[in-house]
Amino acid sequence: MIVVIDGPAGSGKSSTARAVAHELNIQYLDSGALYRAVTYLFLESEQSLPKFFESLYSVQLTFKFDNEFHVSLNGEVITEAIRDPKISLHVSGIAAMTKVREFINAIMKKAVQHGLYIADGRDLGTAVFPNAKCKFFMTADLETRAKRRRQELDSKGIQVSYSEVVAEIKRRDQIDSTREEDPLKQADDAILVDSSAFSFDEQVQYIVKKIKESIILE
Ligand code: DC
Repeated sequence: MIVVIDGPAGSGKSSTARAVAHELNIQYLDSGALYRAVTYLFLESEQSLPKFFESLYSVQLTFKFDNEFHVSLNGEVITEAIRDPKISLHVSGIAAMTKVREFINAIMKKAVQHGLYIADGRDLGTAVFPNAKCKFFMTADLETRAKRRRQELDSKGIQVSYSEVVAEIKRRDQIDSTREEDPLKQADDAILVDSSAFSFDEQVQYIVKKIKESIILE
């Protein structure tokens, strides 16, 4: 079974999905982290794009969830490295490439074949898992999202001004929602959650309740 939460950067979907996974004792899949891992790989490899695409399928991209969503590339743990602002700067551009999306989508579809998952991303309810059991689209106003993003970076010791965070979020929203390939979009059958109107606990409990209801209605 798969439950999906899509939404823009800073909408609170990752921390919410993680908390829901804990509450329901299911697996969490952070699709953005996988796009970040490919971006890390591209920047490290210093290859031209055609060469990079050629080598992509020989790479071992693995992940596991235990409190945190951990990502490894060829055995090297890159969980922290993929949160670097340099990765945030380039990830939307890399994620817009068809070959990259095919690569990540295949990994995700294979991973969720067994077990119960909640995954978060941009296009999961519309393109990757259109038959997901339960779909949510989480959003929040720009100010709330920017404050959250800044706090998150602050907690990792990364100093960025508020205006820089706003500019980065706007730029990523623009790329993620206007790209040709599977843009950020609310699925017709997704439940809209405006996280600026809820406390964190309230939104987690609301989503847990909706998931339980959808299982009972099955
Ligand atoms: O959730 P995040 O900010 O870590 O995601 C990083 C980038 O990955 C985001 O700017 C867009 C891309 N992404 C995507 O294109 N499709 C997804 N399902 C998840 C993320």
